[in-house]
Amino acid sequence: MSRISKLQKKFKQLYIDAFLVTNQKNIYYLTGFDLLQGDGCLLITPENAIIITDDRYQLALEEFESDEVVATISRDYYGAVNKICEGLNLSVLGYESTISYQLFDTLDELMTSDIVPFDHLIEQMRLIKDSTEIAKLREAAQLQTAGFEYALSIVHSGMTERELAIKLDYWMKMHGASSSSFPTIVASGINSAKSHATASDKEITDGDVVTLDFGYYLNGYTADMTRTFAVGSIDPELRDVYEIINEARQQVIDMAKVGIHGNQLDAAGRSLIEEAGYGDEFNHGMGHGIGLDVHELPATYAPGATKVRMKNNEVITVEPGIYIPEIGGVRIEDDIVVTHGGAEILTTAPTELLIVGD
Ligand code: GLY
Ligand code: MN
Repeated sequence: MSRISKLQKKFKQLYIDAFLVTNQKNIYYLTGFDLLQGDGCLLITPENAIIITDDRYQLALEEFESDEVVATISRDYYGAVNKICEGLNLSVLGYESTISYQLFDTLDELMTSDIVPFDHLIEQMRLIKDSTEIAKLREAAQLQTAGFEYALSIVHSGMTERELAIKLDYWMKMHGASSSSFPTIVASGINSAKSHATASDKEITDGDVVTLDFGYYLNGYTADMTRTFAVGSIDPELRDVYEIINEARQQVIDMAKVGIHGNQLDAAGRSLIEEAGYGDEFNHGMGHGIGLDVHELPATYAPGATKVRMKNNEVITVEPGIYIPEIGGVRIEDDIVVTHGGAEILTTAPTELLIVGD
């Protein structure tokens, strides 16, 4: 059954007659058509899926082949939605609760039907990946691994963090990536103690650890991978920290399987970090769902995530880290597919400590 049909089948139990999709990734997920955020919407009626957008997309829509999706060209997107709903006597229209207040105001003014918000309706469908999606995520992760090898081959003492990020960006795009899913993190030396530093003009120098955290889209799906490596030599404490983090990462991956709760999965790695005395230096969740967005459901799993329970073919990251102010930090992040039998690691770049230019 198609994704659109699955959604239409839910209408009765949701007490709606139609559903309005405005999130770009959700429109892409349901139709395969790439509309920039804000450039239109998708109206799902009991019988149809209608993309409503303006003339800029006319040609692309004519070329777009789909048995399920039709298009309406109008500059007044929501006026067109209202006309369709009125014409079909659709009296309850669901919409995504993530819309802006401005758009809510427009809908509230314009729509003759009742409008009802829904939280993460399509995002819940996206949580479990089908085999095509897993294949795309696997390919994105393979490109990511190759990108890391490239980064290792060019990094040297004296290169700035920004230069490494820019060269990696060029390489990833030349090898098929469309864009990054977040600004690449290159955090060297004491910068690596900031878990979400961006690439700066700081030069990478001998004795630095470098945390490289990047994610690129390939065929619509993104990977998200982090490796920390050392240049020239490594501080003895950070060497120990590296081993703790790598072991914590492995423990989480070994525990990952269908049915485990988010808090249990988090604890599998966090307990090791706490036992080593670094509990306070691990200041974020253990990971998050990934797919069409770099952060998607399950949004995060961390202590207290008792409501998150892993399902078959969910794709999540595993990213323990320890950050010691004034010294540096280590994070290692993999993307995994959770199955009944355990986890498949998608990001296969080596995780043992690498010291470049040694
Ligand atoms: N790797 C970036 C993040 O998960 O936020
Ligand atoms: Mn991540």
